[in-house]
Amino acid sequence: NRVSEAAARLRAADKAVAFTGAGLSTASGIPDFRSDGGIWDRYDPMDFHIRRFERDPDGFWKDRAAMVTEVYDGHDPNTAHDALASLEADGYLDCTITQNVDGLHHAAGSDDPVTIHGTGSRVACRDCETRFDAEPYYEAVREGDVNGAPACPTCDGTLKPDVVLFGEQMPFGPLNRARTLARESDYFLVAGSSLSVEPAASLPDLAADTGSTLVVVNLEETQADERAEFVFHADVTDVLPALRAATTEA
Ligand code: OAD
Ligand code: ZN
Repeated sequence: NRVSEAAARLRAADKAVAFTGAGLSTASGIPDFRSDGGIWDRYDPMDFHIRRFERDPDGFWKDRAAMVTEVYDGHDPNTAHDALASLEADGYLDCTITQNVDGLHHAAGSDDPVTIHGTGSRVACRDCETRFDAEPYYEAVREGDVNGAPACPTCDGTLKPDVVLFGEQMPFGPLNRARTLARESDYFLVAGSSLSVEPAASLPDLAADTGSTLVVVNLEETQADERAEFVFHADVTDVLPALRAATTEA
């Protein structure tokens, strides 16, 4: 079947890279952004624009930081995260790039996932750029005990969750690494992303342009399907464990 064929190609690959989005974590109880009932059904994306944050950091922390804590709090990796971590441990997968800020690839054991949208586990100072563990600040959000934006312990600047908001520069290092990995890969596995924002929209093209075997696993169609050699419109928790089994048990 198609999964065994995709597995055979993975076994033969020299540099396989996975690229994931919010669909990887829905089975862990975290809603994605654009499906029905997703995060953008309940929050206005414009409230998560960097200019909105800059205009009103206190309002962000009082009213909207709960979105970030909801995504970040108390979730466990699922069998799709586990499958990628185990493919990596067994030497079939080089690396995972993710748009997710939930830390679940890391929790599943993936080695140093490339987090192009930052990470919810830290807050970053807007002034001195020092990063701190976010947990104490989220604790206050959870308890509804926030009067405004918390101040940086080092310089008294404004703290922001270390995640990329709309209109904000993506962290240069991770983005650059993601682009290089996509170009160097000879197998590029997209899982659980609508591929509707940059650079997600163009990473699969970078891979395909340099001759990489493109594989897409996503419930709904994506713009990368056309160029993909393997397309699975199915649940990542079905396909990725099956791909892992077919790859490692052959
Ligand atoms: P989206 O919500 O845009 O897309 C998630 C995709 O995963 C959808 O196409 C779903 O159909 C699919 N999906 C959901 N559950 C699935 C499952 N169990 N198995 C297979 N597919 C599933 O999320 P992203 O593509 O990650 O950025 O969104 C990219 C970025 O847009 C996010 O990082 C966020 C958002 O705005 C920022 O906040 C800056
Ligand atoms: Zn500071």
